[in-house]
Formats: sequence, structure tokens, C-alpha cells
Amino acid sequence: MSQTYLNILVRTEGRVGLITLNRPKQLNALNDALMDELGAALKAFDADADIGCIVLTGSEKAFAAGADIGAMAQYSFADVYKGDYITRNWETMRSIRKPIIAAVSGFALGGGCELAMMCDFIIAADNAKFGQPEIKLGIIPGAGGTQRLPRAVGKSKAMELVLTGRMMDAAEAERAGLASRVVPLDKLQDEALAAALTIAGYSQIAVMAAKEAVNKAFEGTLADGMAFERRLFHALFATADQKEGMAAFVEKRPAQFKHQ
Ligand code: CAA
Repeated sequence: MSQTYLNILVRTEGRVGLITLNRPKQLNALNDALMDELGAALKAFDADADIGCIVLTGSEKAFAAGADIGAMAQYSFADVYKGDYITRNWETMRSIRKPIIAAVSGFALGGGCELAMMCDFIIAADNAKFGQPEIKLGIIPGAGGTQRLPRAVGKSKAMELVLTGRMMDAAEAERAGLASRVVPLDKLQDEALAAALTIAGYSQIAVMAAKEAVNKAFEGTLADGMAFERRLFHALFATADQKEGMAAFVEKRPAQFKHQ
């Protein structure tokens, strides 16, 4: 990737695109410049035929400590409403069709927790801390926290976290279903990369369909979701990768997916 970024680091490892939030002195506080770069990097990986999965991570101390409070402090209602600052391009995350794994160590607070929840699943290091502390600033979560957290951990725990601003540690986040699993801090990058390489090795069409179908479970009725899943399931029988995947199983050999 030729583009130079100031607030993120971008590299590839095989068919995996890795994005590291990189404002360590501000604990990766998410300002508009960072979010613009993140959106551009995600779109570039999504469009790159050589990339099958994306990993988003931060530093050991902070995945991201939230939206940039220094930048927000001066804004009026008119500023944020008309200018659509702070959260303007966050929905870019939702438009990415390849899976995004959040590899979270340290603080994932406010917008940082919301950003992690916009990813497709969260692998947490044992030092991770999640929370929605916006209430302490006289505001509420503004990038999906009041909507995605209840879906992830249930109403009672989400309400408690949003109303008190308390943090939950990695073990609690795993128990509650926010993190798919917890790994030792020094294994986080390797574990996230290994999961991403596994996903990137599968048929890209099947992977994208799987992501689309699971996400449907959050946004509609069970009947609509079942019908949607059935259509995608049937459609995958039109792909060369389905023929290859099943032939490889029958012939007891590894599948060679062509992503077609
Ligand atoms: N915005 C801007 N700067 C931040 C920041 C943020 N969200 N979080 C931390 N920083 C900065 C601090 O100001 C400090 O900078 P200086 O060294 O220049 O003073 C630096 O990062 C290190 O932070 P601390 O000294 O506070 O580190 P700590 O280890 O003592 O505490 C912390 C860590 C508990 C995460 C604490 O920094 C903190 O509470 N941060 C704010 C968390 C927060 O409220 N997030 C929600 C933001 S609002 C939001 O996200 C809205 C939304 O939904 C979109």
C-alpha cells in the first residue's frame, strides 16, 4: 500500500491486512484525522483482491481510550450536528465486507469500545478493559454504544456500564460475550493473526456471505434472517470454491480456493 498515514500503521502479512492505531501518547484517542485514515485503509484493504481478512489493533496500553476529548471539548450542539464531527465517518466500518478482527489490549473505552464492537469479533488480551464512560463527561455514547453493547452483553450489564461508566476486565467481557476469547497479552498479535490467516485461507465469497448472514441476525426478525441465510447458502452452490471445497473433502486433500 503506497499511501502514507500519520495516525495509523498499515502492513500486510500473507492475505491479512493489519491496521494499528498509532497515537500512543493520547492512548489512541480517536480524532477525525485518525478516523479518516482508518476509513481509507479499511476501504483499500476491502478493495484489494489479495486481502481476505483485516486485523485492527492498538498499543499494549490502549486499543483506544475513546473519541478525542480535547478536540470535542469546544464543540457546541450546532457544531456537531451541522458539521457531523467526531462520528462522521464511523459508519465506514459497517460498509466493509471482509471480516475485521479487533485485537484489543489495554483500554477500549467510549469510542474505543464502540470501534471494537463494530469489528466482527473481538479477541482480548488479559489486560483489556472495556467501558462506556461517556456519562462521566456529561454525554452518552455516540458511535453505537447504547445499541451494540446491549446486543452483545444483554440489557442489564449494558445499562449498568453505560449508567455508571465502570470498566469491565477481559474475563468479564469474555463471560458476557463481548470478547470471543481472552489470550495472554504477549500472544495477542499472534492469535489474532492466526485467526485472520485461517479466515483469509477460506473461500472469500463464502467468508463474505457468512459475515453478511451473521450480521443479519442483529438487524431483523429470525424469519427474515433464516430466509436470507437460506438464499446465500443456496447461492454458494454456484461458486467454484464450493465444488473445490467439497471435492477436496471427498478426496481427503487440502482445498485450494480460488475465491471464485
Ligand atoms: N481523548 C483525548 N486524550 C486522551 C483520551 C481521550 N479520550 N484518553 C486519554 N487521553 C490522553 C490524556 O489526556 C493524557 O494526555 P497527557 O499526557 O497529554 O496529559 C494521555 O492520554 C494519557 O492519559 P492518562 O494520563 O489519563 O492515563 P491514565 O493511565 O492515568 O488513565 C484512562 C487512562 C483511564 C484511559 C484515562 O485516560 C481516561 O479516563 N481517558 C478518557 C476515557 C473516556 O472518557 N473515553 C470516552 C471519550 S467520549 C467518546 O468516546 C464519545 C463517543 O462515544 C464517540
